[in-house]
Amino acid sequence: MTLSPKEIAGRRAADFVRTGMTLGLGTGSTVHFTLLALGERIRAEGLRVRGVPTSLDTEHKARALGIPLASLDEVTSIDLTIDGADEIDPQFAMVKGGGGALLREKVVAAISRREVIVVGPEKVVPRLGSTFALPVEVAPFARPVVERALARLGCQPRLRTAKDGGRYLTDNHNEILDCRFADGIADPAALERAIDAIPGVVESGLFIGLAHVLVIGHPDGRAEVRER
Ligand code: 5RP
Repeated sequence: MTLSPKEIAGRRAADFVRTGMTLGLGTGSTVHFTLLALGERIRAEGLRVRGVPTSLDTEHKARALGIPLASLDEVTSIDLTIDGADEIDPQFAMVKGGGGALLREKVVAAISRREVIVVGPEKVVPRLGSTFALPVEVAPFARPVVERALARLGCQPRLRTAKDGGRYLTDNHNEILDCRFADGIADPAALERAIDAIPGVVESGLFIGLAHVLVIGHPDGRAEVRER
């Protein structure tokens, strides 16, 4: 049976986990396989870990798999976080938030000693913003103001809607503007500062200097591990 690149990457990242660790549990269809592997190791080898979930979806999946959970009240730092990405560049700067979990993912990444990112090869790009619109989480009250300010930064912001066309809200009850930059993002750090400075922005999907290890699953079955 051939495994998908997501499964190869997601499962390989679980090998970085050691007993006793406090983990950040990322969000998405690639991390899903990490969660499956962790559940298997807990049952097979008695692996002892506790995980801080970055979304309600991950919380539900982890509970169902028997992965013990902890909240940020109980945890001051995280040994290792495993998360996905929508794009990652050669400096390991990332666009995240395709699954809408960017705020919790960034908070967890910020207190993690090590962050391992799991992706398929199509997520590795020379320039951020070239394949994916940058998600920006906004307080609903401020959305029209933020939308105009983001457009002045050179993108086309588009309000995310739910799959059924209805209103989309994050786990934190905020909205998301997906911002497309025609020529990609030339200076991710400068853009992150500019977006963070807009009142009403809750968080941007730019993650800079937060990833340490990249695991790329390849269609031929290889898991490639790169260190920053
Ligand atoms: C969620 C994220 C995810 O990590 C990102 O969207 C990747 O997801 P997937 O592994 O399903 O492609 O940032 O907010």
